[in-house]
Amino acid sequence: MDKLIINGPTRLMGEVTISGAKNAAVAIIPAVILSDEVCRLENVPDISDTKIVIEILLKLGAIVNRINKNTIEIDPRPIRTTTVPHSLAKRMRASYYLIGALLGKFNKARVSMPGGCDLGIRPIDLHIKGFEALGAEVKTENAMIDCKAVNLIGRPVYLDMVSVGATVNIMLAAVKAYGLTVIENAAKEPHIVDLANFLNSMGADIRGAGTDIIKIYGVPRLGGVTYSIIPDQIEAGTYMVAAAATRGNVLIKNVIPKHLESITAKLEEIGAIVEEYDDAVRVIGAEEYTKCNIKTMPHPGFPTDMQPQFGVLLSMAKGTSIISENIWGNRFKYLDEVRRMGVMAVADGQVAVFEGSCKLTGAPVAATDLRAGAAMIIAAMAAEGRSEIENIYHVERGYEDIVSKLNAMGADITRVSVDDRPVNTVKAELA
Ligand code: EPU
Repeated sequence: MDKLIINGPTRLMGEVTISGAKNAAVAIIPAVILSDEVCRLENVPDISDTKIVIEILLKLGAIVNRINKNTIEIDPRPIRTTTVPHSLAKRMRASYYLIGALLGKFNKARVSMPGGCDLGIRPIDLHIKGFEALGAEVKTENAMIDCKAVNLIGRPVYLDMVSVGATVNIMLAAVKAYGLTVIENAAKEPHIVDLANFLNSMGADIRGAGTDIIKIYGVPRLGGVTYSIIPDQIEAGTYMVAAAATRGNVLIKNVIPKHLESITAKLEEIGAIVEEYDDAVRVIGAEEYTKCNIKTMPHPGFPTDMQPQFGVLLSMAKGTSIISENIWGNRFKYLDEVRRMGVMAVADGQVAVFEGSCKLTGAPVAATDLRAGAAMIIAAMAAEGRSEIENIYHVERGYEDIVSKLNAMGADITRVSVDDRPVNTVKAELA
């Protein structure tokens, strides 16, 4: 299993270019199934989650051509099967988007229950409620979700809690349904808007994405397009926090500053400087930070996917900070690991209290999920001494070239495969 060796402390200096958004890409790639022509996608992040979703499309029969590292062409016309087996679906959470896309195109889908980060209970009842509202019959047997419809018909769908996944899946299923679907209390994340823009560019008629009411007028046919995926809000936010935590000075390029407002506001509140440009932000770290409290909320609130990274930063601030996690039931597991690096924080259910002014020191830790892993990398760069971070496959699900991007700004990170270590190193460790 590969791990990272990080020597700290580092002061990150220079610039970094943000890749395409993971959570937009994992919705847009399956959405190509709905097209009757070839689509070209640009700015696709080269991460394991997009590789898995591409592999699923290939298994379904699509033709996928990689034009270069971040551009792919997908021809969905040869797709003949509508079943996604457990061996593929278990590898990522967003495999559930295959249900909406296959149902929307072929009126049927059989997809195994999805995998993904363990953040607590992750039900998909709202997705199923949406499919049923559109007229599908949904059965779950042996962890396979089986959906069938004679015809999908547009209807109002009220989501009793804001769900990114349910909003995406209902959009995918409804885009070619007959008549008008209205999603009320829809998610407003940037990747919802990006998916709507992509579908509209193919000929869909979706209005209101980015507000809490999305109207989808069904269309009979979607064509081929070339589309560029938006920059990743959370990757950008992670580098912003990394710049602040290492008291560095980093220009973060290829971002949409509006998407980063909630993160910028919190960084400024604790004392970092954030300069905004048209498509870049510069974060200048301070020698000392002051405490703040954070409540994670659906967009435009503070994103849960930035909570662990900010937790590490707040442990270095002066005073006691409180984070309330309002999206996921189990997103403080990283604290057990970062406590080994000197973070003083305790969680009680959905609330964690961070005692500030912690002096971080390097330690061996293991990534518990994607964003937890990112938080551990930030802690290790800010810490004095050597850290080892195991289970970095979690991080590689969502961050393109993270090691080379950080090393180019002065970090000292080496990625090692346990089996690649020189034999005498292994012997020395065993001794
Ligand atoms: N929920 C339900 N029923 C449902 C769906 C969701 O009760 O049918 C609940 C969930 O249990 C959770 C809340 O609603 O408490 C929000 O879940 P949501 O559906 O919005 O999350 P998701 O679509 O499964 C996406 C991102 C996550 C991100 C969340 C929240 C993707 C592929 N994943 O998950 O990203 O944390 O939205 O913003 O888009 C990550 O990138 O690290 C990550 C975990």
